[in-house]
Amino acid sequence: MTSESTTPHEAYVWVWLPGETDPVVAGLITQDADRLMFNYGRSYLERDNAISLYEPELPLVQGLLEPLPGLEMASCLRDASPDAWGRRVILNKLFGKGGRDDQKIGELQFLINSGSDRIGALDYQASPTEYVPRQMQSASLEELLTVAERVEKGLPIAPELDQAFNHGTSLGGARPKAPIEEKGVKYIAKFSSSTDTYSVVKAEFIAMRLASLCGLSVAPVSMVKSGNKDVLLVERFDRDYTPGGWTRRLMVSALTMFELNEMMARYASYQELADLIRHRFTTPRESLHELFGRIVFNILCGNTDDHARNHAAFWDGRQLTLTPAYDICPQGRTGGEASQAMRINGPSQLSQISNCLTVAEHFQLTPSEAIAKVMHQILVIGQQWQAVCDEAELSEVDRNLFRGRQFLNPFAFEDLEGELSEIRRLADLAREGLSGETNP
Ligand SMILES: Nc1ncnc2c1ncn2[C@@H]1O[C@H](COP(=O)(O)OP(=O)(O)OP(=O)(O)O)[C@@H](O)[C@H]1O
Ligand SMILES: [Mg+2]
Repeated sequence: MTSESTTPHEAYVWVWLPGETDPVVAGLITQDADRLMFNYGRSYLERDNAISLYEPELPLVQGLLEPLPGLEMASCLRDASPDAWGRRVILNKLFGKGGRDDQKIGELQFLINSGSDRIGALDYQASPTEYVPRQMQSASLEELLTVAERVEKGLPIAPELDQAFNHGTSLGGARPKAPIEEKGVKYIAKFSSSTDTYSVVKAEFIAMRLASLCGLSVAPVSMVKSGNKDVLLVERFDRDYTPGGWTRRLMVSALTMFELNEMMARYASYQELADLIRHRFTTPRESLHELFGRIVFNILCGNTDDHARNHAAFWDGRQLTLTPAYDICPQGRTGGEASQAMRINGPSQLSQISNCLTVAEHFQLTPSEAIAKVMHQILVIGQQWQAVCDEAELSEVDRNLFRGRQFLNPFAFEDLEGELSEIRRLADLAREGLSGETNP
């Protein structure tokens, strides 16, 4: 294993091929000035069951593959590396005990220091012949929470928590989290952050649960307590348990499918994702309807953080398949007007139902089918709100805060006129229902 004190100049990419429980080496990442190049290994290209790690980015050919224009590394490889949170944990690990003045902390350093149970079916290793997983032993929820809290405070971690440490380094996203396994199921445990002004984990639980009750395909969630802290457990959909062990599924984010870098992510659009679904996805019609439902739900629950890394697809070497929805998390909101993180209707990102209805045809829905989907979701939110909030043990204060602000914010319906004002009326009724007075 690469020790913490060395600065890697290369990393081997290992992959779990579809249905396999052990990884094989696929190729080598090398540093070339500011960019990372990739090369498939000869042994991999000679395999009967080899698949490209993602196309068009990394076609299954010999020779050096440069990142696409504007990217510093292949985006499908970047998807499997840690983001803001995992990077904070790694920096704590490298510098919590002093670190070296000349220590480089580039992308390769993050890849090779992050835990192996990462999202998707890739891992990064120092050797092409010997696979050494980082983080085999399990850590308890309490240990994971302790590490997360100390990382947030910038405090070094005690050596006896090294295993829990590694867990925190493997996942993307900005919020504190760690992978965990319990009774043969793999979860992502999401923790509260010290900067939260309301219960963000409960808001995410409620939105994910309501989305599922609305009939969307969503990763199953549950709320647990560790000590007196709330923890959201999200079941992982990139792992399958088989008699031979765990298999892993390759995944790419929508950012990768769009071939955009993070700086250009604001140009990502749902219509473009719909185009990709039509041309490259399994079950395109179903997936288009599902995606339309997800945009509507994001607006109804105030999840304005629906950026292109919060959408993903499985990749089987040939085709893409929409993953279940994840990270549906209502965001803090002061007033009415809000925008989604991706464009909905041309350049418009406004969080309004009218925007969705205008583009319904792009998602292979007639206007009346689209309206029916919106009405159904409003009804379900109105009818299930109290029960789901009870299940989350949401405080009275947070209930009052979320109702009409994150959930069913009047701005979402404000410009609906004529026949469409029916939708606004239903939303008004449902919103009253959220305060426990009436039910639509
Ligand atoms: N249920 C799941 N199964 C497999 N992978 C998942 C699941 N949920 C999330 N992921 C992956 O983990 C990453 C981080 O999770 P998530 O988006 O929930 O974290 P976050 O910190 O809230 O993100 P953000 O920075 O968008 O706020 C996602 O981008 C996705 O790749
Ligand atoms: Mg996310």
